[in-house]
Amino acid sequence: MTPAPIAVALDAPDLETAARWASLVTPHVSTVKVGLELYLRYGPDVIASVRGASGVQVFLDLKLHDIPNTVAGAARAVTRLKPSILTVHASGGSAMIRAAVDAAGPQTQIAAVTVLTSLSEADLAAIGLEGRPDDSVRRLAALAVGAGAQALVCSPREVAAVRAEVGPGITLITPGVRPVGADTQDQARVATPEDALLDGADLLVIGRPITGSPDPGAAAATIAAALRKVDVSRSAGDASRAR
Ligand code: C5P
Repeated sequence: MTPAPIAVALDAPDLETAARWASLVTPHVSTVKVGLELYLRYGPDVIASVRGASGVQVFLDLKLHDIPNTVAGAARAVTRLKPSILTVHASGGSAMIRAAVDAAGPQTQIAAVTVLTSLSEADLAAIGLEGRPDDSVRRLAALAVGAGAQALVCSPREVAAVRAEVGPGITLITPGVRPVGADTQDQARVATPEDALLDGADLLVIGRPITGSPDPGAAAATIAAALRKVDVSRSAGDASRAR
């Protein structure tokens, strides 16, 4: 059975737990996501540990943001780990995004983070991003795609607008996904996995609803089964419906 388009966020306190979660969920999902905490604590070896023998795709969520030359060097440094996705901040600008795209190996998609979902309208105004957050998200999405980014990270509430902005062919990745009845925890703007797909998302980042379950493998299997029932031809991401 084809693994579901889910990236399980391995936000684990230690490497053993992360590797265990990865081995439990990989029969059901396409991708596992390694974030800054795990990567900084254990270094590049963490990638081999979570990939294990399964060959699951690894999403390296380092959210790089620096001058173009430095980001290019960082992207080059992780190329040998062959992550399928590496994140940068879109607000680093066109030249920085282009540098990351050029430096990343052919096996790695550069995904640009538009606006962090933790930032409110007031927070954005305080850093000079006046106006509606949606407008900043759309502007940064267009900028990143223009600079060669093949993927974007945005909230499920924004995914339809971003899809309309960038058209088909760009991978849209959405955190903030919660099955019906699940605890939203600290995620403010959430959608169900089914709705996120129908709105045009290609890859759903899901952490605690899976890793916080007593049986992460079963939780991943349940969400994956629900996603298989979604009629993606109704999706806003489907080429026939995109502009
Ligand atoms: O546990 P949960 O499903 O909330 O995990 C979501 C994951 O997505 C976490 O690793 C979090 O850091 C990440 N993320 C997010 N919101 C963003 C970008 C990344 O929740 N805007």
